[in-house]
Amino acid sequence: MSRKSFICGNWKMNATHLDAIQMVQKLSYRLELSDYERVDVVVAPPFTSLRSVQTVIEADHLAIQLAAQNVHWEDSGAFTGEVAPAMLAKLGVDSVIVGHSERRELFGETDENVNRKVKAVLAAGMTPIMCLGETLNEREAEETESKVAGQLSAGLKGLSPEEAVQVIIAYEPIWAIGTGRTAEPDDAGAVCEFLRRRFGDEFGGSFAEDVRIIYGGSVNPGNIAALMAKTHIDGGLVGGASLDPDTFASIVRYWI
Ligand code: 13P
Repeated sequence: MSRKSFICGNWKMNATHLDAIQMVQKLSYRLELSDYERVDVVVAPPFTSLRSVQTVIEADHLAIQLAAQNVHWEDSGAFTGEVAPAMLAKLGVDSVIVGHSERRELFGETDENVNRKVKAVLAAGMTPIMCLGETLNEREAEETESKVAGQLSAGLKGLSPEEAVQVIIAYEPIWAIGTGRTAEPDDAGAVCEFLRRRFGDEFGGSFAEDVRIIYGGSVNPGNIAALMAKTHIDGGLVGGASLDPDTFASIVRYWI
């Protein structure tokens, strides 16, 4: 099975719902139907914009997919400030970013919680986009592989191969996020290849062939083609460069 490219704009904590409506409309004007056949085009606005963006997608029959940036693992209850998986699924959310390094580093998200969230997202019929990656210190200490292997296996713990293969693995080296410093395509490709091999060790080679592994960290229109040329990189998770619809559209159309 060939792996369809997956390119997601993670808007992080940017844009009001009014901005978001304009951004997604502008993005749609810049894409052609054939682009969506080649790439799963995804935007991940903040919670407050999900409903607005979903309404635009539905009204204009857009093939843009909708992602959320976080979720809680419980179905409902006394969890002030949290959002349940079913609430997102009902809104037409297709996928949910889980375990982003900003959540791990700034909000104390642990591997155990990432694993709970991955399971909850799958149970609600959505696709988890599970992030992992090493710090600069870890890279310099040559601990990249042990770090990402640990995060991969902890995040996917207890899943069947059929479940695990639905997860999109996002390799995001922390030192490359928001710094303008992209991993060299060879280095990023090597880590993604390593992750695919580890995935195969745990879930079997044929599932490893099918699982999508994407790269994030200072992706821009100038480096996306070289990243996508790597066999084991199936897409991108784009932060800053996804906020401008023109720029994001040229990342989505990376082959042009
Ligand atoms: P930047 O593209 O701004 O480096 O952010 C990457 C990221 O964290 C996407 O989730």
